[in-house]
Amino acid sequence: MNKLFSVPLKGGNVTDVFNVDSIDELCAYLESVRADKLYVFDTNTAQILPSLPARSIVLPSGEKEKRWASIDRILSRALSLGMARDSIFVAIGGGVILDMTAFAASVYMRGSRCILVPTTLLSAVDATLGGKTGIDYGDAKNIVGTFYPAESVLIAPDTLSTLSDREFRCGLGEVIKHAFLSEDRRLYQFLSDNKDRILKRDKGVVSEMIKLSLEVKIHYITLDPEEKKGIRSCLNLGHTFGHALEAMKGYGISHGEGVAWGMARAFEAGAAIGITPISYRDECIALIKSYGFDTDYKICASEMSRFMDAIGKDKKKKGGAVRFVLMEENGKPCLLPLENDTVKYAVSND
Ligand SMILES: NC(=O)c1ccc[n+]([C@@H]2O[C@H](COP(=O)([O-])OP(=O)(O)OC[C@H]3O[C@@H](n4cnc5c(N)ncnc54)[C@H](O)[C@@H]3O)[C@@H](O)[C@H]2O)c1
Repeated sequence: MNKLFSVPLKGGNVTDVFNVDSIDELCAYLESVRADKLYVFDTNTAQILPSLPARSIVLPSGEKEKRWASIDRILSRALSLGMARDSIFVAIGGGVILDMTAFAASVYMRGSRCILVPTTLLSAVDATLGGKTGIDYGDAKNIVGTFYPAESVLIAPDTLSTLSDREFRCGLGEVIKHAFLSEDRRLYQFLSDNKDRILKRDKGVVSEMIKLSLEVKIHYITLDPEEKKGIRSCLNLGHTFGHALEAMKGYGISHGEGVAWGMARAFEAGAAIGITPISYRDECIALIKSYGFDTDYKICASEMSRFMDAIGKDKKKKGGAVRFVLMEENGKPCLLPLENDTVKYAVSND
């Protein structure tokens, strides 16, 4: 087990991020932490440890479970176990379990301890750092929540071995996004050079990829921890277009597929208004495509008004206008409103 980062937080605290070599090492470490614990799993991640710890709760899996009822169950179990403020909520799962467990930890006794063990690639690179916790409410995603960074994050690439190819690829969408947002291009080059080994989930290569990806996330969240300066918002590259596609398709496509398609649209839109150099647009879309994502899907005329409605609902609206993350060059994102005609051009090429 080795420490990858100590991420500085407000008030002098840190989140320690560790790479853990095996499931056995993960269990040994968790057992060695001297505190009462409550483990939170979903029905899929409950199989990850060799046996289920006695003080556990197993929730149904999936985004539809990311709601009050699940928080209620976690808090009731914590209370019935007599957990105190210095007890630890240990989340073992994808982003849904991580976000909910950290939310429960943030409100239990006005804040107790929290350790995150991500078991999807997406959650490892995106949902572990930055402190965003929460649940969906009504039909709004992540609309109720807190900022509550975990005290530690334990990344064990062995936990990813049971992920479906589709879930693994979903995480790659976010990794590719981090490659574009990184000024130094190491992750971009790494993705270009190691595609086959990444897709085969070679453990060493996947560990290095996660580390490089987290470096980019850390850069943005430390500059703008609470998303108030328009810097952290740039981590939403591809999300405005992608969420609209996901919403229009009734969430029949995965989040990663939506983001990958959305990034390609952001490159098209940026090139159309002269922000993104054409050659950079083309090389980035080629990289996304090389990882098996469909970047060519077009919104047809009969879908366009529903798509534009979905874009208008984007929650990153400022002053009435939706702001899109566009790229000037690698590591140089900007937030800009777009004319409807530019959006339509970027998604249909008409
Ligand atoms: N807090 C943040 O900063 C942040 C960032 C990005 C995403 N998120 C949130 O994360 C969620 C998406 O995360 P996700 O894609 O991990 O979704 P998820 O947690 O629903 O996991 C996806 C599926 O994979 C299963 N699964 C998890 N680990 C597995 C494993 N090792 N083997 C087999 N199956 C496994 C889950 O049970 C689930 O069915 C969204 O709710 C999103 O809002 C939060």
